[in-house]
Amino acid sequence: MSEYKERIIITGGAGFIGSNLLLNLVPTYRDRLFINVDCLTYAGNLLNLKDIENTDNYRFEHIDIRNYESLAECFRKYKPTGIIHLAAESHVDRSITGPAAFIETNIIGTFNLLELSRKQVESGDNLRFHHVSTDEVFGSLGDTGFFTEDTPYSPNSPYSASKAASDHLVRSYHKTYGLDVVTTNCSNNYGPYQFPEKLIPLMIRNARAELPLPVYGDGQHVRDWLYVEDHCRAIDLVFHRGKSGETYNIGGHNEITNIELVRLICRILDDLLGGGPYERLITFVKDRPGHDRRYAIDASYIEHQLGWVPQHTFDNGIRKTVQWYLDHEDWLESCISGQYLKYYEEMYDKR
Ligand code: NAD
Ligand code: TYD
Repeated sequence: MSEYKERIIITGGAGFIGSNLLLNLVPTYRDRLFINVDCLTYAGNLLNLKDIENTDNYRFEHIDIRNYESLAECFRKYKPTGIIHLAAESHVDRSITGPAAFIETNIIGTFNLLELSRKQVESGDNLRFHHVSTDEVFGSLGDTGFFTEDTPYSPNSPYSASKAASDHLVRSYHKTYGLDVVTTNCSNNYGPYQFPEKLIPLMIRNARAELPLPVYGDGQHVRDWLYVEDHCRAIDLVFHRGKSGETYNIGGHNEITNIELVRLICRILDDLLGGGPYERLITFVKDRPGHDRRYAIDASYIEHQLGWVPQHTFDNGIRKTVQWYLDHEDWLESCISGQYLKYYEEMYDKR
């Protein structure tokens, strides 16, 4: 281990953004060790990481961040020089029906990581803590305006409230203990490996299976979509060059209403699959309680400070994404059936 001067723990590396991040970082920085700390909830899938699983500078640690002792053992083993913290319960609808897991993982889990980071720094070994958060902490916008880094927090769901609490804990560890932290608040991501309970993969999977496409309420809610690779590039930049104690908003300037987005996906499927129009499957259903009307990010701070700009246009990214899910039906099914757990047992338990 000590042959690696930099040892970076990525929590939640088997999830959607974490796996896209690892698939990018591990081959890019061959002289750094990346340790994926993930307990593999329903949302974690090691199949995502097949391309790097046998790479020298990658390790997987099957650890629940709610468990302080297991995490402490991991810190002793690797003495990390950096943490990029993504592990979370991340689905708003699940937070409405079962908020407890969100409090435990998103708040207590983050607290455990911060405590261990603080103790390591106090014993003389430095590290940088990058907290990956969401724009949902800012609440809901009206028809105009954007979230900036100075927008007051106003979370509306147990998910966003738990992320807001974790953001505040991270801030407090910088202010109180001088921990080297950076926080990023990003808008909605889309792209490969997103669990098919989230809007875009759910619509593609349902359309393919000729199932209803459930649009909540009047479908006029607005999200600001960013291709996941652009988010990962921003994380890389902020982790390496962000100013200690700062927060950075990340977003793609791609505002679209849910109904327009679902119609767009249907038209792409009509082109790629035939058998349309898939719009016939659109079904308006009861609205989500506390449903935020509009999110939109002003990303000018990260653009000016670190020179980050998204590289994917929405037209290009969404077509690529629909095609990816059509090409990876096995992956989609593995999420539903839990096949990857079998894969996990075969890959790791026999070692
Ligand atoms: P995800 O749900 O796809 O993945 C979460 C991962 O964390 C999974 O691999 C899961 O197994 C792991 N995990 C959950 N609880 C854990 C625990 N107790 N211990 C260890 N591992 C655990 O989430 P995602 O969409 O990849 O989001 C990653 C992070 O980015 C989250 O913190 C989320 O709040 C933030 N974020 C997501 C988006 C988005 O659009 N998806 C946007 C902005 C910010
Ligand atoms: P989602 O992907 O759950 O992300 P978030 O709630 O974090 O923004 O949902 C994106 C938007 O799509 C949100 O406004 C809720 C809506 N939505 C539907 O209309 N139907 C669905 O089946 C889902 C999952 C979401």
